[in-house]
Amino acid sequence: CGIIAYTGHRPAVPVVIEGLRRLEYRGYDSAGVSFIQNNELLNVVRAAGKLNALEQKLSNSPNILATVGMGHTRWATHGIPVERNAHPHKSFDGSLSIIHNGIIENFQELKNDLLAKGYKFYSDTDTEVLVNLISEERKNTTNLMQAFANALNKAHGAYAVALMSKEEPDSILAARMHAPLILGLGVGENFVASDVPAFLNYTRDVVFLDDGELVKITANSWELRSITDLGLIEKKVQRINWDMQAASKGGFKHFMLKEIFEQPKVISDCLVGRIDKGKSEVKLPELNEFPTPERLHIVACGTSYNAGLWGQHLFESWAKIPVTVEIASEFRYRDVILNKNDLVLVISQSGETADTLACLRLVKSKGIPVVALTNVVGSSIAREANASIYTQAGPEISVASTKAMTSQMILLSLMALYFAKRQNNLDKDILKNALEGLSSLEPELNKVLPKLREKAQELALLYSGARSFFFLGRGVCYPLAEEGALKLKELSYIHAEGYAAGEMKHGPIALIDQDFPTFALAFNDSLFPKVKSNIEEVQARQGKVIALTHEKTSLTTVDNLWIIPEVWGVLNSFIALPALQLFSYEVADYLGKDVDQPRNLAKSVTVE
Ligand code: G6P
Repeated sequence: CGIIAYTGHRPAVPVVIEGLRRLEYRGYDSAGVSFIQNNELLNVVRAAGKLNALEQKLSNSPNILATVGMGHTRWATHGIPVERNAHPHKSFDGSLSIIHNGIIENFQELKNDLLAKGYKFYSDTDTEVLVNLISEERKNTTNLMQAFANALNKAHGAYAVALMSKEEPDSILAARMHAPLILGLGVGENFVASDVPAFLNYTRDVVFLDDGELVKITANSWELRSITDLGLIEKKVQRINWDMQAASKGGFKHFMLKEIFEQPKVISDCLVGRIDKGKSEVKLPELNEFPTPERLHIVACGTSYNAGLWGQHLFESWAKIPVTVEIASEFRYRDVILNKNDLVLVISQSGETADTLACLRLVKSKGIPVVALTNVVGSSIAREANASIYTQAGPEISVASTKAMTSQMILLSLMALYFAKRQNNLDKDILKNALEGLSSLEPELNKVLPKLREKAQELALLYSGARSFFFLGRGVCYPLAEEGALKLKELSYIHAEGYAAGEMKHGPIALIDQDFPTFALAFNDSLFPKVKSNIEEVQARQGKVIALTHEKTSLTTVDNLWIIPEVWGVLNSFIALPALQLFSYEVADYLGKDVDQPRNLAKSVTVE
């Protein structure tokens, strides 16, 4: 999940290891380096586990004098975290080595071609396919850069890659497509890395690569070109003024804020290779072996449970599958009735939550299949489930979950569409709108996030004195209201409750007075008139109301209107969720709370 490459005058390996250490915050489960000793031997040293394990292995090598080298920390997305799958990967002929962040979508096709040509593979990774593709392309081109570009033009997906070769031992080639890559320019030394902290001790002069750009560095030179036609690109050098701590958070004040702002990218990562808009198809081969369940039981804790509640609506309305959503710590101690044609879906960001894992084991012991939706490859839940679907959100560091929920919701939408399509149950227009809507979420959210933050800051000033809060919603907005309330209590320690708006009159409304504000979610959908009445009921008791709504609802009569751009149907949830996250973030930050590590909470709860 982190890469760094170096060409210069210093011993490269220590520089690379130190760079990797600065990227440790991104999370990883194996690491490796590549360096050229005596101008010819291309060495690769890798180890599963933390950097110490890699250093231990390197200490067995003779004195490494190389001044060109690169390193990688891997957070498994395809293939389990073992040394064989760690980067760098070498080409079959041993002339090239490569490090890569991202996913090559069409790697299986490319691999089949290469297998037919006699290539052998030693790992399960898409990266090893890429390095051999470059080696194959090299046979038909005049130079390595051209071969690199040709291979990249054939590979679809996301990557930040760096390449070393015996042929040009003094230089490094690197390229970017949908994954961060930054060039660091020193005196007599140059760097490429996935994040600035990797080289911030040596230089503050950087060039941010854009998608489709390729760079060649030597100790004293750098040239930037287009991957498509190798045309030269001119770009301004920028000076970074962040300190190291800010740099590891990408310039954001907290990891939580960084992760909120990563959500557009997470959405597109989750969709990579999963949808084919042309054919109106969803690809989830993980589910192919399972018959369409007669009943789906979703089991999870915390934020993952809220994602499950949200997913229920989609499974029911699109796939027409009856769904129950259960809190893991309750499910495991009930005499739950499971039938042989049921399927259980456990959702867990960490893949380690004790209650969720216990439910998985319980269900399996009854002979009912379990599918896991998780963010961590190789986690206990991923290993023990009958099949795992990975959310591709990248490591989540803030204790309060944000981007993981978004990724879970994307995958739940895809699963619901997958089952709907398989049964031919779904209106063609809905499928088309959903697939198109999902694909345009990334740019939409990118555009709106800064505005959401501004509004959240404004509201935080007005409402951070509250001692209690209601979050209300109906339909898909009810789970979002639950999540909004969870975020507020987790981060700011303000008492908050999520409620189904229509249930307020059955008790909770007794609490409302001028000091007990309500945050209402009021989308422009068929439930809006009902939600509007619920808002009026609160106002009639002097309760203040913030309403997150769309322009078309023409709602005007609340204390604070928060109008968000409207997208298609349930996908509005993907705009509303970051708004709720930012509201809680800003309130907590205004109150000076420890946003990334709230008191009493743990990122992964591995005890009952
Ligand atoms: C903890 C975390 C929450 C998370 C919950 C479930 O309580 O603080 O953010 O939602 O566990 O975790 P999981 O990893 O199973 O999704």
